[in-house]
Amino acid sequence: MPDVGPALADELLAEARERTDQRLERWACRLEAHDGEDGRALAYALRSPGKRVRPALVLAAYRAAGGLAEGIAGVAAAVETVHTYSLVHDDLPCMDDDDLRRGRRTTHREFGVGVATRAGYRLVAVAAQVLADAARELALPAATLGAMARALFEAGGIEGMVGGQWLDLEAERRRLSLADLIRVHRGKTGALIRASCVLGGIAAGAGPEAAKALRVFGEEIGLAFQIADDVLDATATSDQLGKTAGRDRELAKSTYVSVLGIEGARADARRHARLAVEALAPAGLPAESLAALAGYIVERSS
Ligand code: IPE
Ligand code: IPE
Ligand code: MG
Ligand code: MG
Ligand code: MG
Repeated sequence: MPDVGPALADELLAEARERTDQRLERWACRLEAHDGEDGRALAYALRSPGKRVRPALVLAAYRAAGGLAEGIAGVAAAVETVHTYSLVHDDLPCMDDDDLRRGRRTTHREFGVGVATRAGYRLVAVAAQVLADAARELALPAATLGAMARALFEAGGIEGMVGGQWLDLEAERRRLSLADLIRVHRGKTGALIRASCVLGGIAAGAGPEAAKALRVFGEEIGLAFQIADDVLDATATSDQLGKTAGRDRELAKSTYVSVLGIEGARADARRHARLAVEALAPAGLPAESLAALAGYIVERSS
């Protein structure tokens, strides 16, 4: 039987891109109209064309948990806004010092470090507003919005992305153990990907078993995502990636490739993707879309 996974993943990503970008574009127009250079930088970052993996996970998790409403795209846009902020800051000279992102000049290359730093912080506040708008559109009760906000901003904060980014920088030019590297990766990348799945579940009113299944799925696929990112940094070209290839080596980062080698890292990414999909079965969640995205995450070429 032919593997329908890749075609389904492409379809889900295309849908997520279309529906999320519409909302991000509304915010880009609003900010650009009022805020001079800052507004233009915010709009530039919001319009930059990413893969939209996190939005696709929000939509797929929501539907797997029985959600049907169109307004879930607003929740996806909120997660993508936090992700976009993380990229703007990740590329700054004080972090990975990158010139290229999503096939374009990085925000600080285009607007300067001060404007880009501010734009990054301001995107956090934008994300909160995007999330609140989505909760209103979905007519979710205040407690549900509260749970979603907690999940999203804990994942984006010191216990998640910010903490992981901190550990990542601290680890430059040191050789981490695999256990320490896992902590970095779960924080800097895994937390927000896990939150994407968790938010989909919360918005759909998932019960405890479904919520747990989505959380474990997100945790495993979040780690797999960063392992695949490490592999691509070492094996793909800057043209393929839309960002500078080989940067991890230049910055002497500990990565899955430096610890396990390319083939070892690939095998581990696939293992975590399998664990992710297996976590869905006990809750009886429909797995097709989430499994297709899991396959994409570990086999992608950009
Ligand atoms: C890049 O994320 C940063 C990491 C967390 C590894 P993506 O690979 O999802 O980047 P975009 O959104 O497609 O540009
Ligand atoms: C970045 O990890 C994770 C976040 C942006 C939070 P990387 O530094 O490996 O991401 P890329 O490779 O620059 O996209
Ligand atoms: Mg980094
Ligand atoms: Mg980087
Ligand atoms: Mg990377």
